[in-house]
Amino acid sequence: MASVAIVELHRNSGNCIKTVEEIVKLERKIFPKHESLATFFDDELRKKNTGLLCLHVDGELAGYAMYSWPSSLFASITKLAVKEQWRGKGHGEALLKAAIEKCRTRKVSRIMLHVDPMRTPALNLYKKHGFQVDCLIERYYSSDRNAYRMYLDFDESK
Ligand SMILES: CC(C)(COP(=O)(O)OP(=O)(O)OC[C@H]1O[C@@H](n2cnc3c(N)ncnc32)[C@H](O)[C@@H]1OP(=O)(O)O)[C@@H](O)C(=O)NCCC(=O)NCCS
Repeated sequence: MASVAIVELHRNSGNCIKTVEEIVKLERKIFPKHESLATFFDDELRKKNTGLLCLHVDGELAGYAMYSWPSSLFASITKLAVKEQWRGKGHGEALLKAAIEKCRTRKVSRIMLHVDPMRTPALNLYKKHGFQVDCLIERYYSSDRNAYRMYLDFDESK
């Protein structure tokens, strides 16, 4: 059975540069230019209040999730991706759950994210975890690519 681990990337860790390089390569492969953070991934990561979770399967990078908490009011999940050959095995869900838990520890009451409505697997995954569509933002990614803004509210009694 494959060994699976989800770990937070620490900027001062020895493997940080190599990991970010690998993620940037994946980012270019998975996302079209208008949706990709590849050219400014490192800048995003340097921003205060931003975290990156890396999924390793058998010691190899297989996916990642980026999240941020720009204010005490809400957090955002800014990226979520799993390498193609590792999809459909529950890894995306595990990454999403881990990112949600990271956001929860920041004591925000809401998580927001944007997703292209054409990305059915991602949309289903977010809905499965309770995210609701807030609105459709036309031309969010490019002149012909829209986004749903979605949100998940934490139940403060929990
Ligand atoms: C979205 C993504 C991260 C899902 O990762 P994954 O490891 O394949 O997903 P999982 O195996 O954990 O599936 C979890 C849930 O996602 C949804 N899902 C996953 N693949 C799906 C598919 N091909 N069709 C429909 N729904 C799907 C389902 O709700 C599934 O739950 P179920 O198994 O109970 O039906 C992956 O497809 C991906 O990297 N896509 C490209 C990048 C992307 O679109 N990122 C989101 C941008 S905002």
